[in-house]
Amino acid sequence: MKAHRKKTVLSGMRPTGPLHLGHLAGALPNWIKLQEKYLCFYSIVTWHALSSEYQNSKAIKENIFEMAADWLSIGINPEKSVLFIQSEVKEHAELHLLLSMIIPLPWLQRVPTFKEMQNDLPDKDLNTYGFLGYPVLQTADILIYKAEIVPVGEDQAFHLELAREITRRFNRLYGNIFPEPQMLLTEVPKLAGTDGRKMSKSFGNAIYLKDAPEVIREKISTMMTDTRRKRKTDPGVPKDCPVFTLHKAFVAKEKRDALAKGCQTAKIGCLECKNVVIESLIKRLTPFWEKRGNFERNRHLVWEILEKGNKRAREVAQNTMEEVRAAIGF
Ligand code: TRP
Ligand code: SF4
Repeated sequence: MKAHRKKTVLSGMRPTGPLHLGHLAGALPNWIKLQEKYLCFYSIVTWHALSSEYQNSKAIKENIFEMAADWLSIGINPEKSVLFIQSEVKEHAELHLLLSMIIPLPWLQRVPTFKEMQNDLPDKDLNTYGFLGYPVLQTADILIYKAEIVPVGEDQAFHLELAREITRRFNRLYGNIFPEPQMLLTEVPKLAGTDGRKMSKSFGNAIYLKDAPEVIREKISTMMTDTRRKRKTDPGVPKDCPVFTLHKAFVAKEKRDALAKGCQTAKIGCLECKNVVIESLIKRLTPFWEKRGNFERNRHLVWEILEKGNKRAREVAQNTMEEVRAAIGF
C-alpha cells in the first residue's frame, strides 16, 4: 500500500482560564477525533492571550498549565499530537512580522472582531497595534506548520477567510510556499451558563471541567430554569429552559425526550430533571478528574509534555522559516 502523508491540522486556544462545558460540547471532541486521521498541532496561544490581557500578563503562565492539564486529561494525546506553547516557538513572531509587511491596513481594519471585542470589553484598551494584528499572528500560527485544515468555531470564520487571503497574497509575491488553509467549521451547541446567559468565563457563569462533583451539583441545582415553572404543577417549555441546553449536549436523546415530555406535562420536577444531567456529567467527567488529579500532583509531567511539543513544533517552524527567508531573498 502506498503511504500517504497525513494532512496537517492546526488549532489554538487562548490560555485565559480553565476549560468549561462549552468546550466539552464543542471544540474538544472534535480535536480528539482529528488526532486519528491527521497530524495535529494544538497550540496554547500565549501571545494572543497577551493581546487582550497585557495588563494581567502574570496570570497567563498559570493558565498555560490549566489548559494543558485540561487537554491532556480529556483525551488530547501527546503521543499523537503536538501540544505546544506559541511563545516558545519564536519563529511565529518572525513570520508574523514578515506577513505584516504585505497586509494592507484596511484588511485588518474591517475585521469585525476588532471592533466587537473593544465593545465587549470596555475596561480594556484594545485599540492597540498588537490587537489589530491578532489575525496576522493567527495566520502565522497556521502557515508556519503549512496546516491544511484548521478546526474552529463560527466566530473565527472571518479570521480564517483573512488567513486564506493573506496566504494567496504571500504566494503570489514570493512563490508557492504555503497551502491555502481550509476551515473546518466545528458545530458548537449554544450552552447557557448558570444565570441563563451564554456560558462564558467572562460572565462568571461557567461550569468548569475541573469543578468538583459537589460544585457541579450545586451550580446546576441552583441554575435558572424556564420561568413558567413556578410550581411543580406548572407545565414548562424545555426549549426556553437554560438547563435544557445542557441536556441537549450531555443527555442521550431518548432520556432527554422523556424529560421534555415530563416537563411539558408537569409530571416531573426541575430537581429531578436537573439530576439527570448532573449524573450524566459526573459519569462523563470522572475519568477526567482522575487524570487531572494526577497531573496536579505531578505538575512536571505537564511541563515535560509541553517541552517535547515545543521542540517538535520548533523543528517544523524552523524549516518553514528557512524556506520563507529564501523565498523573500534574505
Ligand atoms: N483566535 C482563536 C480563538 O480565539 C485562537 C487561535 C490562535 C487560533 N491562533 C489560531 C485558532 C490558529 C486556529 C488557528 O479561538
Ligand atoms: Fe427545565 Fe427540566 Fe425544569 Fe423543564 S423540568 S423547566 S427542562 S429543568
